[in-house]
Amino acid sequence: MSAEPKIVLDTDVKRRSTGSTGERSPRRAGVVPAAGHADLDPRALRADFPLLSSDRPGGRVVYLDSAASAQHPRSVLDAMDRYYETTHANVHRGVYAIAEEATRLYESARVAVGRFVGAPRPATEIVFTKNVTEAINLVAYSWARHELGAGDVVVLTEIEHHANLVPWLMLAQDRGVELRYLRLGADYQLDVSDIDRLVDGAKLVALTCASNVLGTVVDLAPVVAAAKRAGALVLADGAQLVPHRPVDVAALGVDFFGFTGHKMLGPTGIGVLWAREEILEVMPPFLGGGEMIRDVRLDGFTPNELPWKFEAGTPPIAEAVGLGAAVDYLSAVGLERVHAHESALTAYALDRLASEHGDDVTVFGPAADPVRRSGVISFAVRDVHPHDVAQVLDTRGICVRAGHHCAKPLMRCLGVPATTRASLYLYNDEEDVDELVDALRDVRRLFG
Ligand code: ALA
Repeated sequence: MSAEPKIVLDTDVKRRSTGSTGERSPRRAGVVPAAGHADLDPRALRADFPLLSSDRPGGRVVYLDSAASAQHPRSVLDAMDRYYETTHANVHRGVYAIAEEATRLYESARVAVGRFVGAPRPATEIVFTKNVTEAINLVAYSWARHELGAGDVVVLTEIEHHANLVPWLMLAQDRGVELRYLRLGADYQLDVSDIDRLVDGAKLVALTCASNVLGTVVDLAPVVAAAKRAGALVLADGAQLVPHRPVDVAALGVDFFGFTGHKMLGPTGIGVLWAREEILEVMPPFLGGGEMIRDVRLDGFTPNELPWKFEAGTPPIAEAVGLGAAVDYLSAVGLERVHAHESALTAYALDRLASEHGDDVTVFGPAADPVRRSGVISFAVRDVHPHDVAQVLDTRGICVRAGHHCAKPLMRCLGVPATTRASLYLYNDEEDVDELVDALRDVRRLFG
């Protein structure tokens, strides 16, 4: 069997972007037909992104922090503006025309987002949350507190973001659930050599699809197979994968899948939980309030149908519209092309860092590999604190993240308090990488 992650390459992304609002017409702006697979033109794409344009007030920024939050194309901003200017009303409540239109936009965005990740039943299986953290907490509070008790086992990994650690640590404290961890192995990949023993007796395996620190793209296949053999469900955190390559949740074989809007060109304030319908059906509601009920009496309540059972209160309507537009934009560019572009650019960046800085810059992450590596590049400059590195880069208009990246257990495993992290996306190009590599020379000169 192939050792490659079972990430299904969608050869017909347009199929997934149809019918979201019926109004958005995705542009192919910035997409230049050319030979080869990485045939998108990042510089032309940047013209779609107001914050990245060269005539931005304050000057051009070299934005290398998309793993924290991506920038927005004009089409996303316009879709949200248009919604607020012409169609804003609360959803699932009003009987007047704009309220019905707002409901239609909200629900059709749900379907578009679900199709984008291959959800078999997008209208019922896609739950909008505030972010991926809330999506994971929803599973921890609803499914896990309903299903797990003292002595039950949840398997995690030591490369997780705090969002996929703390909810389970809280569950362990509350309920006496046992936590086990997959460790980091060779070339910054998870060590799955003992996976069957680790998942033996487990009820859930919860792991990231792609590390926000290392750039490791996890080979989910052996983990999912072992979990199935053990009778455990699998929760995958797709926040760092969905923006960057085609994903098909059904083909991945997972049971829960979370991701977030703002890392995939959409707005902040919206995340997504996908889960198989039969699991969502038996999960109790998470937050209580309006929208998530069918009936309320003084002695009890009846929950609403899926997916609204999990959407208490007024939902993120404009954000859903914006996320639908982001999905349209990414689909029009093509996720295969985004992936190919990022892979080529990552290889270029790793090569240039090594050739220009040698041992003075240490990269924490796998070697360049289009399957097993993303465009997240964490590094250390010898004898310079990551915050100092980031500040010097900022003086050259280069935006990177420095810190523990909400992954403190991983930092301990790497033996560092923090790293500097550059992360690449569809609008970055070799010029951006060159600026980074050159600016690191200033860093070394200043602190050397
Ligand atoms: N999870 C985000 C990051 O890695 C915020 O930067």
